[in-house]
Amino acid sequence: MSVLHDKKILLGISGSIAAYKTPLIVRLLVKAGATVQVVMTESAKTFVTPLTLSTVSNKEVLSSFINEDNENAVWNNHVELGLWADAILIAPASANTLSKMSQANADNLLIATYLSAKCPVFFAPAMDLDMHKHPANKSNIDKLIDNGNILIPATSGALASGLDGEGRMEEPEKIIAALESYFLEKSPFSGKKIVITAGPTYEPIDPVRFIGNHSSGKMGYALANYAAQMGANVTLVSGPTAGNKTHPNVDVLAVTTAKEMLKACTDLYTETDAVIMSAAVADFKPSNKATQKIKKQDGLETISITPTTDILAHLGSKKKHQVLIGFALESDNAIAHAEDKLIRKNLDAIVLNSLKDAGAGFGHDTNKITFLQRDKAPVEYPLKPKEEVAKDLLFHLKKIFDAQ
Ligand code: CTP
Repeated sequence: MSVLHDKKILLGISGSIAAYKTPLIVRLLVKAGATVQVVMTESAKTFVTPLTLSTVSNKEVLSSFINEDNENAVWNNHVELGLWADAILIAPASANTLSKMSQANADNLLIATYLSAKCPVFFAPAMDLDMHKHPANKSNIDKLIDNGNILIPATSGALASGLDGEGRMEEPEKIIAALESYFLEKSPFSGKKIVITAGPTYEPIDPVRFIGNHSSGKMGYALANYAAQMGANVTLVSGPTAGNKTHPNVDVLAVTTAKEMLKACTDLYTETDAVIMSAAVADFKPSNKATQKIKKQDGLETISITPTTDILAHLGSKKKHQVLIGFALESDNAIAHAEDKLIRKNLDAIVLNSLKDAGAGFGHDTNKITFLQRDKAPVEYPLKPKEEVAKDLLFHLKKIFDAQ
């Protein structure tokens, strides 16, 4: 899967014959899983039609500050557009557009958006060879690089003028590759293998009944999805849950019982860089599973139970290079109990949920956590959506990796 998956890319097209290649750029970005918003200058429209680009990007193409196509004119907010994008790609970047970019001459939507953006900006110049090598153009390119923009250099070859030389826009495939390698380098978890557990485990009493709990798995799925977005190779060992979606870069290993979860985690452990144990593993299982459904009239006064293996403690006892993060659900003396688990299970960190916090824990879309590490002050977070909690937690994991 491409690192561009789920990325929001703003493609700025300026007036150059190379604009005829931009539908292919859009196609490749969309194929990689990116969302593409095209912003084009008026002169770009002489080389490629907005209809072609809106068709391939599946989004309305923007080119002026005000959308006058309908009766109620709409303001195309360049600040919002600039902040929306994870990356801006200006391809082709004509000499005129390069000059406007370097001078902050915001007389069109593309330049105003460029000036409002906080994301990385890539630019792929395209023009005739003499224009390209002109000192004025060269100094614009140098200035743009100095300002932190990323140059995708023009290549040499046959030009529209009939001349041969440097000034051709880089080929679409190579432009996409430049974006991909940038994001790959910037992916904080690139090359890391992370195992995340989620959901409950079901411990069978008979073929139809079980001991289980109300865990929805939402926290574990949010963690897995965000870790994948950060470039990690994620295996999600999931107990029975329903309705949770996964990022395409997450391998889901479905398990039912604590024993199966233990096996999956231990099988993966040697090759794993971090384990985040967010599953609500059943602490006890029936000592014997009835092979036939227990009949009501036969009666069942007691179910004899035995403890399941504590997966986290087991992994802690075998710990080498792996970072181990556990969860703790506590009602009283929360910090002290969580700290005790942190040490007892040989963990790097523990995420505390307090049963006293409304809106936190099982079944909710929100969670309220305190992140605890050895010899560090607890970091307490407010109630947040689980997707945001996942980001906070993985930010700590990144710091632990960095310190290794
Ligand atoms: N855990 C585990 N295996 C188990 C039980 C729990 O790996 N059989 C993990 C959970 O995934 C969680 C952590 O241990 O990351 C703490 O779980 P919690 O239920 O809070 O604590 P317990 O260790 O079970 O202790 P207690 O229930 O007594 O508080």
